[in-house]
Parts: sequence; structure tokens; C-alpha cells
Amino acid sequence: MEFQKISEQLLAEFKAIVGDEFVYTNREVLEQNSRDYTEDLRFYPEVVVRPSNAEEISLLLKICNEARVPVTPRGAGTGLSGGALPVFGGLVIAMDRFNKIIKIDERNLQALVEPGVINQVFQNAVMEKGLFYPPDPASRGSCFLGGNLAESAGGPKAVKYGVTKDYVLNCEVVLPTGEIIWTGANVLKNSTGYNLTQLLVGSEGTLGIITKIVFKLLPLPTENLLMLVPFFSSEKACEAVSAIFRAGLTPSALEFMERDCLLYVMKYVDVKIPLKDEINAHLLIEVDGTDRDVLFKECERISEILYQYECDEVLFADTAQQKADLWRARRSAGEAVKSHSIYKEEDTVVPRAELPILLKGVKAIGAKYGFRSVCYGHAGDGNLHVNIIKEEISDEDWNTKVPLGIREIFELCVSLGGTISGEHGIGYVQKGYMDIAFNKTQMDLMKGIKNLFDPNGILNPGKIFL
Ligand code: LAC
Ligand code: ZN
Repeated sequence: MEFQKISEQLLAEFKAIVGDEFVYTNREVLEQNSRDYTEDLRFYPEVVVRPSNAEEISLLLKICNEARVPVTPRGAGTGLSGGALPVFGGLVIAMDRFNKIIKIDERNLQALVEPGVINQVFQNAVMEKGLFYPPDPASRGSCFLGGNLAESAGGPKAVKYGVTKDYVLNCEVVLPTGEIIWTGANVLKNSTGYNLTQLLVGSEGTLGIITKIVFKLLPLPTENLLMLVPFFSSEKACEAVSAIFRAGLTPSALEFMERDCLLYVMKYVDVKIPLKDEINAHLLIEVDGTDRDVLFKECERISEILYQYECDEVLFADTAQQKADLWRARRSAGEAVKSHSIYKEEDTVVPRAELPILLKGVKAIGAKYGFRSVCYGHAGDGNLHVNIIKEEISDEDWNTKVPLGIREIFELCVSLGGTISGEHGIGYVQKGYMDIAFNKTQMDLMKGIKNLFDPNGILNPGKIFL
């Protein structure tokens, strides 16, 4: 790919389009836009712009496309696969001014929003109307809905309610060549042609820049119960997971945390969780609905199953504060691990009953290649975040040997019927492993789609494909 630098003339055109005050070339802003939450990676853009509407983005993309300048769209920068990193420099289009909830349509249980709205701000806004937007990534307090769409983000509630893509009905998108389109219709079912909406969702900012989103909403479940379940054996904890679903129960969250994960979390946030020496893992299980008695019965049935897998005493969160603390602990797991050491986070996912085999395999592969991993994640989805800890590993081994181990972990996922990312995306850091999940025919189809949308390859280059 032959890219051009941003010329003085182009810079002047950016200013004419979005206004001088929304074009940045100073070191501080370039630095803020050089990183996201992925490992310790840094790539500096040449220029950052903050447009406020689709027409401005259209003009920006048209001139960058003609000039062959790489463009990287950016939400809140909380991504974990490097999707927002401007790996070829060029222009970063920051979406933070797209921060309006345009309409909450209570008649149709839908909402029209801009992509720079923070996930939790949106959740709270619909909650005030008795409605529910379930996708809740760990970073929901800061991540943008646009970034959630880019990666089809998940989160704890995905196990019962599905991921971001399950809530997107339609979106407005600016194509890399500057055209502005809507991808579908504001309907719950749609058999009309190819599904452009779902193609855009999860396309990691490589096919277009989303400027408006139509979401479907649900009625708000008013009650929930939360249990913390200590296990002596991590594998037994994983085995219990699929048994719960086999018994016909669907918790609204079913999270797994290894002992070390909890230890790091308790160092990182001020939450005390009892942790006996012989406990090696926990499940955090939530049920939700509208009838407390029904929920208590569900918890009883779940507990009966759990005890068959040799857990210690099941603990209930009695107060709203205890629930909030447990969720705060769980949501800070990623940052807690990051604060401990440089790490690589793998977003493995397998059919849920294969989770015990995956966990065992991850540990065996770590032993073979000389790395320690801290695992936690959305066990109910078979989605295990494998955090490989650098600690004393030499830079050379970190860069050459550890990736061989990661490759083996991903091969294990695929051999179990799984794949290499459940909710974080491929982005910059996992693209070297795509050959494990897809053969040449499949990759050529994807590259063909990319080429059709973006013939000059200017939009978010260096992502998904090697
Ligand atoms: C979590 C993020 C890392 O589950 O996906 O905490
Ligand atoms: Zn996660």
C-alpha cells in the first residue's frame, strides 16, 4: 500500500471542512490518539480531526481517498485489539462530538443515536423510560456505542441477551469513497437483499464510518439476584457452566474468574472478597426477570447443580452495594491484570461445553512455552479471556516464543469448534492468526468485500488482514 503524507494544502482543506478549532497537530492530542487499551502499543497520527456530522466526514474521506491518505476512525479508544490505532499515521477521525441520543422511540422500542454516545449513558437514558439496552462491555462507563458496533462488543449480559450486533437494526454509514448510505431498515425482520447492516457491524472500522445507529430495545427486567460461587478446581467450575444451561436455565450473566485474577483485582480496586487458600476459581452468576420468587427458585436450582461440581458455599449478594462491588471487581479485571504486568490478552471462544478442555489446554500450552496466564471471562458464552503475563519473560521470548504458544491456543480453539475472537475483534494484534480461522478462499472473499468498499485501502489500514 502506497500512502501519502498529509500536505499543508490538505491540512488547510481539513480546516475548511470541520473548522480550525477541530483540527489538531499538537503533540499532546497526537499522543492521546496514538494508543488505545491494547497492550503497550503506540502509533502516532499526523493529524486528528473532530467532525460533527456525516457530511463533514464524507468530505474528509473524499479528499483523503483521492490523496491516498490513511484514515483511522476512533471512538473512546477502549478497544483491546488495536482497532483504533493509526498504524500508518495519517488522519484520525475522532467521533466524540457525535454524542447525541437523537430519539428514544417508546412506541416501537427503538432508539436513534449517534456513535459517540457512551454505552452506559445510553443504557441509563433508556432505563429511565423503563427500557433496556443489554450489551454491557466491561468498559461501558467510557466506551462509545460506535466502537461497540465496530467490534460487535459483548459483555456479561451477552449470555442471555446477545451481543451488540443483535441490537443493531440499521445504520447510517459514510463509505471510504465519501457516499453516505443507510444499511437497512428500522425493522425487526428483514429479508430484503444482503444484510449490509450486519456486514458493517463488526467490520472494525474498515468498511465505513458509522454516523447514526438504530437500536432495538427491550423492556427492562426489574429484578436480579447475584451469586458468587467459589470452586476448589477451575476445571470443575468450567464443567458446571454447561450443566446449568443443559438443565434449561439461562442466567443473565455467568462469569468465570481464576484465583489470580481475583487477587489482582483486590489489589487494584477497593473490594474485599473472601478467598480461602484452597479456592482456585469463582463463578459469578446473575439471574434477572420481573418476579423475585421465580428468581430465587432459579438460584436454588442453579445451586443444586453447582454443588454437584464440588463448589464451596454459594454466596449471595444481599445488598445493592454488594452487587455493585462484585460487578466493579469483575469489570476491572482487565485493568487489574494490566496494572500488574505487560500482558497479551487473547479473546478465545469455544462452544461452551468445551470450556474445560480449553482451559486445561491453555495451561498445558503455557507450561510448554514458558508463560503464565490469568484467565477470566464470559464462561456462559464459552468466551475465555486468556491474559498472558510478561513478568520475567525476556523481550526476545515475548516476541518470538510466546506467539507460537498463542498460535497453539488458537489452533486448539478452532479444533474445538471455536474461533480466535469472541468480542474484542482482530484489529492490529490478532491479524497474524487469521489463517487459523479461515482458509484462502474465505480470506479472499473478505478481501474482495474490503476492496469493493474501499478500493484504495485508505480506511483503517493494517487491520484484520496481514
Ligand atoms: C472483560 C473485557 C476485557 O470482559 O472484555 O473484562
Ligand atoms: Zn469480555
